[in-house]
Amino acid sequence: MNTTGKMLRLHSTDPFFEDVVQIDQVDFPRPWSRSDWLSLDLNFHHLLALQGPLGIQGFCLFSILPGDDSAHLLKICLRKELRSTGLAMEFWAEILYYLREQLVQSVYLEVDADNTAAIQFYSKVCFQRLRFIRGYYSDGKDALTMLLTLQVENL
Ligand SMILES: CC(C)(COP(=O)(O)OP(=O)(O)OC[C@H]1O[C@@H](n2cnc3c(N)ncnc32)[C@H](O)[C@@H]1OP(=O)(O)O)[C@@H](O)C(=O)NCCC(=O)NCCS
Repeated sequence: MNTTGKMLRLHSTDPFFEDVVQIDQVDFPRPWSRSDWLSLDLNFHHLLALQGPLGIQGFCLFSILPGDDSAHLLKICLRKELRSTGLAMEFWAEILYYLREQLVQSVYLEVDADNTAAIQFYSKVCFQRLRFIRGYYSDGKDALTMLLTLQVENL
């Protein structure tokens, strides 16, 4: 579907897994430690990476419990130099295709209330604002929760 990259589902033994951990460290506002990453059960945490000509361009991480038709978007991140290029929209189209294959019907997320670019992006791909939660994060920052219901036209 996209012309720029190929989407891969990664496990921790995959050679690209370390690239994801590194992008998280460098380019994500709330990075996890390597041991946090290694403690994930990637059978029900779905780690999707976008591979381009020069390597991994970005990733997203969902939690989808077996038998559940809702997904929790834990992280989505593009390398800084690839933002505002349209690539995020292409990646999202691939992600939606994947979620449909997993029979997911809704996607939930929390985001820093001051992360304007991410909130703008989520709104553009049809997430609705749910709640503002004051002091949600451990550093006291506020969060916004958002929900996407996957209807036929979103897929
Ligand atoms: C979330 C993310 C993948 C979206 O990718 P992107 O390339 O930035 O997305 P887009 O350019 O398609 O959309 C972002 C929108 O925010 C706008 N924007 C970017 N920075 C902004 C800012 N500082 N203030 C206001 N708007 C901003 C862009 O103009 C764009 O809107 P437009 O399409 O109407 O012009 C990317 O921003 C990212 O990797 N962020 C870091 C990780 C992160 O914070 N993830 C979300 C938390 S899980």
